[in-house]
Amino acid sequence: MGNTFGRVFRITTWGESHGGAVGVVVDGCPPRIPITPEEIQVELDRRRPGQSLITSQRRETDTVQILSGVFEGQTLGTPVSMMVTNQDARSQDYSEMQNAYRPSHADFTYDAKFGIRDYRGGGRTSARETIGRVAGGTIARKLLHLRHGVEIVAYVQQIYNLEARVDPRHVTRALVEENPVRCPDSEMARQMYELIDQARRDGDSVGGIIECVIRHAPPGLGCPVFDRLEADLAKAMLSLPATKGFEIGSGFSGVLMKGSEHNDLFFASEGRIRTRTNFSGGVQGGISNGEDILFRVAFKPTATILRPQETVTPQGESTVLKPRGRHDPCVVPRAVTIVEAMAALVLADHDLRNQAIRNPAGPAA
Ligand SMILES: Cc1cc2nc3c(=O)[nH]c(=O)nc-3n(C[C@H](O)[C@H](O)[C@H](O)COP(=O)(O)O)c2cc1C
Repeated sequence: MGNTFGRVFRITTWGESHGGAVGVVVDGCPPRIPITPEEIQVELDRRRPGQSLITSQRRETDTVQILSGVFEGQTLGTPVSMMVTNQDARSQDYSEMQNAYRPSHADFTYDAKFGIRDYRGGGRTSARETIGRVAGGTIARKLLHLRHGVEIVAYVQQIYNLEARVDPRHVTRALVEENPVRCPDSEMARQMYELIDQARRDGDSVGGIIECVIRHAPPGLGCPVFDRLEADLAKAMLSLPATKGFEIGSGFSGVLMKGSEHNDLFFASEGRIRTRTNFSGGVQGGISNGEDILFRVAFKPTATILRPQETVTPQGESTVLKPRGRHDPCVVPRAVTIVEAMAALVLADHDLRNQAIRNPAGPAA
């Protein structure tokens, strides 16, 4: 339960951090979408640990194997199964966590729910689970690009108290990939790098914010009332490990504006209805309006820090835990591609749902 996401374009992820492998089954993917392992690998490499000093030093190539559903470079319309083996698991580093709950991690809650937990590398709660999301999301992204020219770009906007100045309208993938922080403001990226590296050297951690812009999404995506587009995006983002907040458009800052300032005024241009501002973040009434979809996701500081912290054993005895293991001093730079993948999954699902419900009698008059 809880391992499947989407209604029509559906992914089911599987696997634990130190098990044999992690992976995904994508069902509901239309046939004849061109896709290669190389395209998926590009995204997995952006998520991979060991990319730089400011990520976990676990050494994984994260090489994807496509086991089914793709033939001669195209999807077959049958389930696409993809897998990545776990190669650099050092399970002995997690022996302390067998008998002590990590503060703000999922050790206690998994025990409370299941009465059993794979404590090695965080088991199912490890971010290795997101490999399946990225692999499935890459196919969703391809589908959206082919059908509408949709472009999804996420980037790091804030780390701890350092905020980048970025105009989302002009951010490109190339700019995001220019530095290991994945912040398109290069001066701020340098400071962010130093801050994360200092946290690492202190055995501490920091969090941050990822902003994501989706361009060329057609108007009409989203199903009121419970499957509003922003509600599904929020669920997708808050289903990611270590997330604590989601905002779309003006978000929480909109409360500081009056309606006269906040309303996005309409105008017509080249046969399209547009808005002059975009405080709505591209979604009104739960349905995309054709403007850029713009949202933000807050990630907390990594729970596992390499410092002694007060905790308890599963038997409720007080103890002190000083974890070992290789951890991200900040999860945010690696999460950029994961946010993009989840956004693609939500949009692809709504796009396919639209095909089922729209214009049953042919094109609208
Ligand atoms: C890309 C990425 C990398 C992560 N790396 C770590 C890590 O090295 N150590 C850790 O304790 N948590 C890490 N996390 C977060 C944990 O998986 C998460 O905190 C844990 O599952 C508990 O869930 P919660 O924080 O959402 O409550 C990472 C998350 C992401 C998205």
